[in-house]
Amino acid sequence: MTDKRDAPKAAPTGNADYEWSTFDSEYYFQHYYGEPHPDDDRVIHCAVRALRDAPPRDAALDIVDVGTGPNLIPFFSALPRARRLTAWEYAESNVAWLKRELESDEMRPQWRHFWAETRAAYGAEAGLPENPIPALREKADVVQGSIFDLPERRWDAATMFFCAESITERQDEFEAACAAYARCVKPGGMLAAAFLTRSGGYVIADRPFPVLSLNAEIIESVFARHAKVVGVERIGIVEREIRSGYSGFVFLTGLAQ
Ligand SMILES: C[S@@+](CC[C@H](N)C(=O)[O-])C[C@H]1O[C@@H](n2cnc3c(N)ncnc32)[C@H](O)[C@@H]1O
Repeated sequence: MTDKRDAPKAAPTGNADYEWSTFDSEYYFQHYYGEPHPDDDRVIHCAVRALRDAPPRDAALDIVDVGTGPNLIPFFSALPRARRLTAWEYAESNVAWLKRELESDEMRPQWRHFWAETRAAYGAEAGLPENPIPALREKADVVQGSIFDLPERRWDAATMFFCAESITERQDEFEAACAAYARCVKPGGMLAAAFLTRSGGYVIADRPFPVLSLNAEIIESVFARHAKVVGVERIGIVEREIRSGYSGFVFLTGLAQ
């Protein structure tokens, strides 16, 4: 019998090894956001803090979110600062899901919760509407594209939630994804991104998806190659999984170099 420890380790899988186009958007939404978790609220508060302070502070900004997935939280956090908003998402199923989600003014209970958190984070003085969907429809473009094909120096600010480390097991691809993300904003533009720490991958509708398992220090050092780091928050980092592949994250804010 061969000792398992002698077996060759499988090569890490890359972004192209997965079938993203049929990603089960509704399953993902229900699994990760069906029942709001306090960590989701913390993501919102981190993102709002970063976006509220994004330079230039007195101007409306062109903002992109990369790898948006079936999630309106990036749009909610950015709406009050946005002149235009772009979701840059790879999976065709998620693009269609996002467009459908913006078609109706009727908000799911989860969106009502997350929007209430967003309004609270901006404070009453921001005068935000009760329903953000009509304004989002007006300002948002949902674009199908890969992080590796982002145009350079196009936006004033960019957000990214659980994308660069959650689309590959390969370190070189993670680093290339971070570089492309950071370069898509103009020099000095705000970058705010959440990264899973020490995840072993996630399962959506019985299909496995990759995560490059990294600790917070490594993530920070890769991010710091591209940005003057102005904020680091380590959130909910625990030993056990809270949801598939999720046991905490690091939230980084910086200014693009
Ligand atoms: C773990 S999900 C995160 C989704 C969402 N941002 C969130 O916070 O819940 C990873 C996302 O990256 C997208 N993705 C996969 N490959 C990509 C690529 N090459 N470029 C951009 N996005 C990609 C997936 O379709 C999925 O929406």
